[in-house]
Amino acid sequence: MAVDPEKYLERQRSRLEQALASYLQPEDSPVLAAMRYSVLGGGKRFRPLLLLASGQHFGAAEDLLLPYACALELIHNYSLIHDDLPILDNDDFRRGQPSCHKQFGEALALLAGDGLLTLAFEILAAAPAPGNDHQLKDRIMAEIARAAGARGMIAGQWLDISFNPDHRDPAAFEETAFKKTAGLIRVAVVSGAWLAAAPAEAVAALEGYGRYLGLAFQLRDDLQDLDQDRLTGKAFRPNLAAVLGREAASKLLSTWLDLALQELRQADIDSEVLRFFVNELQPGRENQP
Ligand code: IPE
Ligand code: IPE
Ligand code: MG
Ligand code: MG
Repeated sequence: MAVDPEKYLERQRSRLEQALASYLQPEDSPVLAAMRYSVLGGGKRFRPLLLLASGQHFGAAEDLLLPYACALELIHNYSLIHDDLPILDNDDFRRGQPSCHKQFGEALALLAGDGLLTLAFEILAAAPAPGNDHQLKDRIMAEIARAAGARGMIAGQWLDISFNPDHRDPAAFEETAFKKTAGLIRVAVVSGAWLAAAPAEAVAALEGYGRYLGLAFQLRDDLQDLDQDRLTGKAFRPNLAAVLGREAASKLLSTWLDLALQELRQADIDSEVLRFFVNELQPGRENQP
């Protein structure tokens, strides 16, 4: 049956919003208030939507997938709160609103990030095991922890802020983009497939798809930042798009997106929704959110 990706994603987005809110019930706690402010104030929900789409393509039930999807979104939101702190990127705005530390102060922002990361693993610990296979669940949790951890996203954040601006090696930027962004996107896609007990060849193809999609996602974000710098005079931070120049960066973006589609094709993964994620990132569409 043909699926309209936009309608499907709209529906899944609202399921996610409900589920995220249910994990963040209001309490008389400023840390919880800061957590709610950051998580429930918008966001594309790219990673959890990917997990749901890949899992559902291979037949997993939504109820099984949702806690894993939410955990990834919470990890992502913790990383954004900390990323915006003065000691990292020092950004005053996030999703068009004052960033968490601007709204609540640095101490609460730091703690809200800690709270989200910890809550993600509490949710994962309580999540159902696919087909009651606890070994598989342990493996998924370990992969998520690895992608988010000190050899993954945290390492990427360190590489990102410790760049020597004179060091203009695209390979180094690619490594950073993989660690800080693509790793979590890749694990979102792959976790969905594992939860659905997808065949090993499909999982291998989705690893490639997730990697290229994730790299493309960061490169597109970098391209958008070039525009923002021009428009708002925001401090220059070296990124891959700036190093390559707009034209070459757009070309590389297209190449990565083609490679992502190729992974799907070669493994006969015929998913309108997974192709939709790729097409949304095509160059020329940078003005979209
Ligand atoms: C922003 O991520 C940070 C990057 C890794 C590029 P998103 O673009 O997914 O941010 P939200 O969640 O939609 O706000
Ligand atoms: C954010 O990357 C990546 C993580 C938080 C892991 P950026 O610093 O490039 O993203 P924005 O521009 O602040 O969203
Ligand atoms: Mg950053
Ligand atoms: Mg930033």
